[in-house]
Amino acid sequence: MSVIEFLHSRRAIRNYQPREVEKEKIEQLLKVATLAPNDRLREPWSFYVIQGEAKKRYEQVALDYLQERFPTKPKLIESSIEVVKNTPVIIMVTADIASNKADTKDNEYAVCCAIHSMWLAACELELGFVWRTRGVGLVHDQRSYQFIGSPEGKKMVGTIFLGYPDQSETEVGMLKKRTSYEEKTVWL
Ligand SMILES: Cc1cc2nc3c(=O)[nH]c(=O)nc-3n(C[C@H](O)[C@H](O)[C@H](O)COP(=O)(O)O)c2cc1C
Repeated sequence: MSVIEFLHSRRAIRNYQPREVEKEKIEQLLKVATLAPNDRLREPWSFYVIQGEAKKRYEQVALDYLQERFPTKPKLIESSIEVVKNTPVIIMVTADIASNKADTKDNEYAVCCAIHSMWLAACELELGFVWRTRGVGLVHDQRSYQFIGSPEGKKMVGTIFLGYPDQSETEVGMLKKRTSYEEKTVWL
């Protein structure tokens, strides 16, 4: 498939088979991420790969967050934790906070490019992928920083959930709703 074909078929995949993802494939994703465009080659990204025992700890952090955020919604908490449990690999991605606002913003943009590169590569490797920020993505919760060891000067940009796609996900793979570019474009 060409890049353009992958861009047409790429989908957010949220359900996975209970199958391990090969380390080589995870490394391929990380490698393509580091090839992303980035201002003045600051290479502002860091990746935190969460599997096995670390994923058990992530589940606990997510549970603490959900219980605090949704104290009256036990069903939502249960289903959200199931999602974490059924995800083979989680990767948190941060951007470096620079000495000024403009560079910090550019760093975040570069990290977004890196995550999108990983997403396209995941399609080629037949892996299901979703970039999460809300809920169990924990991007907007301070606990995520403690979880990755409270590194100095990093901003959480995305949490990737990754695995071999569940059959039900590949069946809806063709549906993609978007407003036409014509309605979103001004030709000046
Ligand atoms: C910055 C960003 C944050 C997102 N956060 C979430 C999220 O927290 N939970 C989720 O299920 N999907 C999340 N998504 C995935 C979008 O919901 C998904 O891309 C959108 O529904 C369009 O579907 P598609 O990717 O299959 O085209 C996020 C995507 C982006 C780019």
